[in-house]
Amino acid sequence: MIKIAPSILSADFCRLGEEVAEVKASGADYLHVDVMDGLFVPNISIGLPVVQSLRRSTDMFLDVHLMITEPVRYAERFCKAGADLVNFHVESDTEENTLKAVEIVRACGKKVGVTLKPHTSAEAVLPYLRQCDLILVMTVEPGFGGQHFMADQLPKIREIRRLIEKTNPACELEVDGGVDENTAPLCAEAGANVMVAGSAVFGRPDRSAAIRAIRENCLKK
Ligand code: DX5
Ligand code: ZN
Repeated sequence: MIKIAPSILSADFCRLGEEVAEVKASGADYLHVDVMDGLFVPNISIGLPVVQSLRRSTDMFLDVHLMITEPVRYAERFCKAGADLVNFHVESDTEENTLKAVEIVRACGKKVGVTLKPHTSAEAVLPYLRQCDLILVMTVEPGFGGQHFMADQLPKIREIRRLIEKTNPACELEVDGGVDENTAPLCAEAGANVMVAGSAVFGRPDRSAAIRAIRENCLKK
């Protein structure tokens, strides 16, 4: 089943509660929350207080994508703030610390994922794959919404789907960056099952139609 995860990076932060309620009513499956520290990526977005507020105002599944250096420092705090799943970039620290971060999230009883930037190879997931609930493949350079989908990531998505089937078939495969009603079907065909969409949902006046278009086009493939 295809899941849609609207990214609040493209939402109106002055009306965040209403924006979230709208995508929930429109059939979104997860809410994707992009945390940026201005170091790991050249942009600053939101952090713990916003996750706490979201947790108080919605029962949606909060998929928290940490684009921060040494995320192990914050793993427990994001779990306690109300994340349902915490995603770490494999490039953001040593393998040892990333494994530690994965363990912390599991010990908190939450789901955990690792994320790959476009230039990181599929094999980089191998040290983590058995312990993960989700792998996130970036289809743009992380840091900003509204960028162009990198079709050269499709073979990597396909390869990671193969590794998942071999090692941990329950693991989900998520894509993030430039995903819309035209590119989501390509990702689905390559084996992704969770579509993050920022501008293709929050950037559209009719969020319900936007989510429906992504889902329906994936099913057509
Ligand atoms: C980018 C973020 C994405 C972003 C996607 O670094 O991780 O989640 O919000 O935005 P769109 O869907 O507009 O490319
Ligand atoms: Zn993201």
